[in-house]
Amino acid sequence: MSKAQVFVDTNRTIAPISPLLFGGFVEHMGRCVYEGIYDPKSPNADAQGLRKDVLEALRDQSYTVIRYPGGNMLSGYNWLDGVGPKEQRPRRRELAWQSFESNQFGTNEFMEFCAAVNAAPMLAVNMGTGGIQSASDIVEYCNAPAGTYWSDLRVNHGFRTPHNVRYWCVGNEMDGPWQIGHLDATAYGNKALEAAKMMKLQDSTIKTILVGSSSDRMPTYPEWDRTALEIAWDHMDYLSMHYYAGNQENDTASFLASAVLFERFVDTLEGTLRYVKARQRSKHNVYLSWDEWQVWYKGDPTQGNWTEAPHLAEEIYNLEDALVVAQWLNVFLRKSHVLKIACVAQIVNTISWLQTRSTGLLKQPSYYAFKLVSNLARGEALDVLVKAPLLETKQYDAVPALDVSASYDVETQQGAIFLVNRSQTESVTTDILWQDGKTVQVDKAWQLAGSNPKEANSWESPNRLVANAISTPAVDNGRATLVLPPLSFTVLTTHTA
Ligand code: AHR
Repeated sequence: MSKAQVFVDTNRTIAPISPLLFGGFVEHMGRCVYEGIYDPKSPNADAQGLRKDVLEALRDQSYTVIRYPGGNMLSGYNWLDGVGPKEQRPRRRELAWQSFESNQFGTNEFMEFCAAVNAAPMLAVNMGTGGIQSASDIVEYCNAPAGTYWSDLRVNHGFRTPHNVRYWCVGNEMDGPWQIGHLDATAYGNKALEAAKMMKLQDSTIKTILVGSSSDRMPTYPEWDRTALEIAWDHMDYLSMHYYAGNQENDTASFLASAVLFERFVDTLEGTLRYVKARQRSKHNVYLSWDEWQVWYKGDPTQGNWTEAPHLAEEIYNLEDALVVAQWLNVFLRKSHVLKIACVAQIVNTISWLQTRSTGLLKQPSYYAFKLVSNLARGEALDVLVKAPLLETKQYDAVPALDVSASYDVETQQGAIFLVNRSQTESVTTDILWQDGKTVQVDKAWQLAGSNPKEANSWESPNRLVANAISTPAVDNGRATLVLPPLSFTVLTTHTA
């Protein structure tokens, strides 16, 4: 059995944890919207057609912000198709996913959905086929008080009070040749700048998000980010990042070290932000918004063959995927000085840990990892020191067996520690040592663990992998010892006297 030490000091802080790190993404893709959140024919639907069981699961996960409506679909979308009387909304060919779009769910339904899950809306404007006028119009439609053309249209549609949408993505993955209306970085930067200018003239309180690289694998990364930032810096508040992780090579040791890659991606873009800020001689800050992240590689089709709500990219997630998700969340805390928004893509059915059938809901293991962190990471992220045995990996050389993050809320004096044991074979006896001299007690502990990285939940065995409450270790003289089994995610909550 190996040994490790985790040193925690509530004075050694990184930054306040932005609540918006626990966001989600809803795209008109596959069954995310239809049969996912909106399913009026389901026996589980409420009066607005929203799935009550899905809403409950999403509330349990405490999403703080939801991005909508795309995604690749955004770049061919006319937001006007999705507002007004439902019977008059056009049925369209949705080109990005080759599916039929009924438009029965649109901007106003999305606002009702966000209210139902207590999350802030984050809308995206079309920079593919869409122009800067249309981007400005939807801000007026959503945010302006009654009395103008677009705000009165909203009132006529039944929404007198403005939606006050604060977060706006200026396009989606415009660096990708697959994107409808794809542009080079200079052309996109110029268009995004003019769009954001008009959008902020409509409402100076909004925050805008510039499209960054679709992943670190893009040939234009990170030059795209630098170029677009240099053009649009003053009008943008966040730079978007997207990344989907996978174990295509079936190299579990490397996959379980994915935090290395995630940190590298953030570090490079943080460097890019600092460089551009310095070159601009600017006092303005731009932060990172990781507004699409998830494990996605198992190969369900992504083309709908001209059907409505096809089963696209519905992944079966296993234990190793959940441990990668847990590490991703650890990275969010460790990078909380620069990373301020993150949205898992997507929240139900499509690339999601939540799957619906007409009368049932399946929660996959990574659902529990997200739920623990989104509900317990509060206050400030702590700079935790970890001394753990090293594991060799093909992709990242030697990595520590443990991946750890921690939070502490000075107001409530409550803390949380999140520990992944990425070893596939070894338990790690771990001493947690609090260095700040305060009297600490562990209140609760949970663990998600299994013996086989490929183990998953199924409709037949839905609770094979869940987060179980485990016994709490005693703290003696600022030290607690616990055994972390291989392939596990353990969470402790604490309070200090
Ligand atoms: O989330 C699925 C797709 O992944 C999104 O539409 C796109 O932005 C990304 O490539």
